[in-house]
Amino acid sequence: MKIAPSILSADFLDLEHDLSKVIASGADLLHLDVMDGHFVPNLTFGYPLIKKIRHRFDIPLDAHLMITNPELFIPVLAEIGVEYISIHQETVHHLHRQIQIIKYHGIKAGIALNPATPVSSVFPIIEDLDFVLIMSVNPGFGGQIFLPLALRKIAELKAKAAEMNPALLIEVDGGVNLTNALSLQKAGADILVAGSYIFSADDYSVPINLLKNL
Ligand code: DX5
Ligand code: ZN
Repeated sequence: MKIAPSILSADFLDLEHDLSKVIASGADLLHLDVMDGHFVPNLTFGYPLIKKIRHRFDIPLDAHLMITNPELFIPVLAEIGVEYISIHQETVHHLHRQIQIIKYHGIKAGIALNPATPVSSVFPIIEDLDFVLIMSVNPGFGGQIFLPLALRKIAELKAKAAEMNPALLIEVDGGVNLTNALSLQKAGADILVAGSYIFSADDYSVPINLLKNL
């Protein structure tokens, strides 16, 4: 199981120190929640911060684009050098084209699905995907309550992936903590995103190790 701390719950006034700590505590990826105040009712951060994080840290970066026009941002994120990009099914008109563009840049390409979006919506292009991000909250904010409907979506996706794309990674994001992590692993999750659960701990290695050793 890979653990991707969402930096949304980190201390933005002491970010370098906080990210150093979470990386030293065993994070596998850093999950970057990019919000535009349009697709979701919140604003976070963009290129300047991601570029700084890239220059400062070697850890793989996982950009979760909760923005209306993700296609405008893909070439810049490629130039900065992120390893994963997920775009939302609900906001992209030409999903397959955008996935191809992300992959053309050598970046792992994923589709993120809101809680109400069926997993079957990615089946036609499942063979072209590196990962799918199942949202277990409605996107926009950290610290929300986990929606159990994500479990059956993960299981459904895992079954389809076994047949069509066994290398597909399943990432789950929102309200993840020790009370749901084992069920998520059993359903088929490969990457757990966790924000408030990790960053509310005094010692980040405690929640990270608990999530890694279910
Ligand atoms: C929600 C974001 C999540 C969020 C996770 O829109 O995509 O990545 O920061 O935070 P927690 O783990 O606190 O739900
Ligand atoms: Zn996210």
